[in-house]
Amino acid sequence: MIRSLRGMNDTLEPEESQRFSYFIETASRIARNYGFRFIETPQLEETALFKRAVGESSDIVGKEMYQFIDKGENSVCLRPEGTAGVVRAFIQNKYDRQEQTQRFFYHGTMFRYERPQKGRLRQFHQFGCESFGEVSVLEDLSMILMVRNIFDALGIAFTLKLNSLGDQNCMPSYREKLVGFLDAHEAQLCEDCQRRKTTNPIRVLDCKNAACQALYATAPKLMQNLCRSCESDFNTLTAHLDVQGVAYEIDTHLVRGLDYYSKTAFEFVSTEIGAQSSIAGGGRYDRLVEFLDGRPTPAVGFAIGIERLMELIKMPELEREGYYFGALDEHAISKLYILGMNKRRSAKVMIEYNARNLKAHLKAADKANARFCAILGENELSSGTIWLKDLVEKTESEIAQEAL
Ligand code: HAM
Repeated sequence: MIRSLRGMNDTLEPEESQRFSYFIETASRIARNYGFRFIETPQLEETALFKRAVGESSDIVGKEMYQFIDKGENSVCLRPEGTAGVVRAFIQNKYDRQEQTQRFFYHGTMFRYERPQKGRLRQFHQFGCESFGEVSVLEDLSMILMVRNIFDALGIAFTLKLNSLGDQNCMPSYREKLVGFLDAHEAQLCEDCQRRKTTNPIRVLDCKNAACQALYATAPKLMQNLCRSCESDFNTLTAHLDVQGVAYEIDTHLVRGLDYYSKTAFEFVSTEIGAQSSIAGGGRYDRLVEFLDGRPTPAVGFAIGIERLMELIKMPELEREGYYFGALDEHAISKLYILGMNKRRSAKVMIEYNARNLKAHLKAADKANARFCAILGENELSSGTIWLKDLVEKTESEIAQEAL
């Protein structure tokens, strides 16, 4: 038997697939309320896109990409995340030349060759939003509030972690300070951090090694070294979060696993799903459009990891919906089928192709969660009617077939 690849799952169990669709519907509706419109970009892109956007020093690019040479000798890669492709599309379609703010949402599969475990897959789904053209920190705020809205609508509890990663004014001098600190403690650094010190020193801050973490507790903090504009934006953001009643933790070691961020960085974490607890992440990336050869355009976005939410989503009570059509005799099936297909133009209809007795049909209609059970037998055939039971009101009636 051929099985799916490790870390790549099917979604087909009724309850799971209902949750999945319900999540997409809910999140899309809320994103539209915030002025976002749907964008679809390819799953396969040039490898260079992710190398440049996500960064060569990141684990995603360094270790986790599904990268190969295609038949035309191009180096291509299954997307490990959604932002790079949306930025590429934004530039390629010349949206970077427009004045207006452009807001997009997407959902789809992402691929990272990670070690699979609970909540960590090699093919997983993200729902993401990207906003281009807004310098105001209120857009960062709106993004965070949108994620809050989505999680509230689904009954999901979360903790919000916040940090500022500074900008080109304050980050370089902070980086120097940090490297000075790392140089002074070189002997105590793990191997990975010794490497990070030269490739991307900020990355040391979220090292998983306990000894490193103990050391970095005393390292200089970017939060205390922000320039005036970054500090003021961060204060505006937190003040508004207070007004909105959103609790947050400032986490000065939150650096995110992708290199494109500046200023606001955030992560939503759940305490109910084990080690892979990050359920959404995002932040500002004001330099990325320019970095991918577009006109300088400020931008901010986030992505939610759908698989990690699945067991947290609280589904609303399912209401009975639509019709179940059943025949009592073989020769009523053809007419039943025609009536059912007509009704299908305007309502959800299930048609049973096999003749059964009334009791069996009612049971099947109940199981299918239909609102109405419509039955056609000898009597109805000759009188041009159909028997109808409302499974909510518990009423029965015989109505003309045209009245259906
Ligand atoms: P990210 O933090 O790498 O950010 O991923 C976002 C979310 O995707 C994570 O919080 C997690 O829920 C989910 N996720 C990541 N890797 C896996 C995996 N292997 N298995 C299951 N779920 C996973 C980004 O991807 C950025 N593009 C977000 C963004 C958009 N920033 C700005 N705009």
